[in-house]
Amino acid sequence: MYVCICNEVTDREIKQEASKGACSMKDLRQSLKVATTCGRCASCAKGLLKEYLSVSSVELKAA
Ligand code: FES
Repeated sequence: MYVCICNEVTDREIKQEASKGACSMKDLRQSLKVATTCGRCASCAKGLLKEYLSVSSVELKAA
């Protein structure tokens, strides 16, 4: 699903960046340019990043 229409960024790309170490909106802005045009996607992108980071930390704890 597209999260950022302006820069054609999908939820899958955000998840990939999180798995590569992105841990902030600053990281996503630098790598994917998400939320750098109109900014309407910022809260959605931030929520997804937070969700992916919490899932991966649960996975790490379980391992
Ligand atoms: S929808 Fe992401 S910057 Fe416009």
